[in-house]
Amino acid sequence: MTLLKSTLSILAGATLLLSTQLMAAPIELKFSHVVAENTPKGQMAIKFRDLVNERLAGKVKVEVFPNAQLFGDNKVLEAMLLGDVQMAAPSLSKFERYTSKLQIFDLPFLFKDMAAVDRFQQGPDGQQLLNSLKSKGLIGLGYLHNGLKQLSADKMLKVPEDARGLKFRIMSSDVLQAQFEQVGAIPIKKPFSEVFTLLQTRAIDGQENTWSNIYSKKFYEVQPYITETNHGLLDYLVVTSTEFWTGLPDDVRTELKKSLDEAIAYGNKIAAQKARSDRQAIIDSGRSKVIELTAAERQQWVEAMKPVWKKFSKEIGQDLINSAVQSNQ
Ligand code: SIN
Repeated sequence: MTLLKSTLSILAGATLLLSTQLMAAPIELKFSHVVAENTPKGQMAIKFRDLVNERLAGKVKVEVFPNAQLFGDNKVLEAMLLGDVQMAAPSLSKFERYTSKLQIFDLPFLFKDMAAVDRFQQGPDGQQLLNSLKSKGLIGLGYLHNGLKQLSADKMLKVPEDARGLKFRIMSSDVLQAQFEQVGAIPIKKPFSEVFTLLQTRAIDGQENTWSNIYSKKFYEVQPYITETNHGLLDYLVVTSTEFWTGLPDDVRTELKKSLDEAIAYGNKIAAQKARSDRQAIIDSGRSKVIELTAAERQQWVEAMKPVWKKFSKEIGQDLINSAVQSNQ
């Protein structure tokens, strides 16, 4: 009788354990970002969500929060360290409080095109930079492209002198601040979610961004001129917290990374397409005039902004800058 009782209680315990395991809630992965869904980052995040929710069904559940619905870029990394969000992809310009190394990506006229950006990011120095946030409890999982930035304004900008005295919204980056100060403009650090209203109400005169962001956030509707400068890069670092990432079961982490790499490749393709199609859509809208610079005019911008490199060479490291320059060859 005693034997029967204890066998029954072992069986009951085992059944309970099994059903608890079967009912274990999937790991929640919240992916927060600030742009629209019809952008390279928006599409990449959706692709990642769909791949993971299919491949790791029942184990991981990804939810995507676009348009700064959950956190703006000024708060998301703090929230990540507190475990309130597990993944984000802020622009590389928004990590300044965590590392000075990623400032390299903000140097004006550093990369001649996106192929050079790829060579640098995928090379040894670019890969090393993925670890530059480790001491702060964050891990870079990969780079995602948006593309090269253009200057939009409520007046026509052809040479640096045209920007003198104008107020430009910038991301939270001292390099970008120096870049605008270099041409006598007034840079103002503001979150992405406020840019449209600031432009619409004429609280600021202009901003810098990619074709995709200018189109998807309708900046072109309130900015009569866009100068095609391709003067800087707007790419992203897909980031997670070390605590979350290292706490995952190995098989789950491996599958998440694989799905992320596929989603990034997909997002990069969209970035290249959108750089062309959103530019064209803006031209076709007739709302904003796209100004193409002559080689001589562009050279004036290059020369006016170039002193920024020297200003930040110590913080970033001259060797790293040389390595990025090499990727243009
Ligand atoms: C983004 O593309 O994530 C936002 C860029 C910006 O703040 O201008």
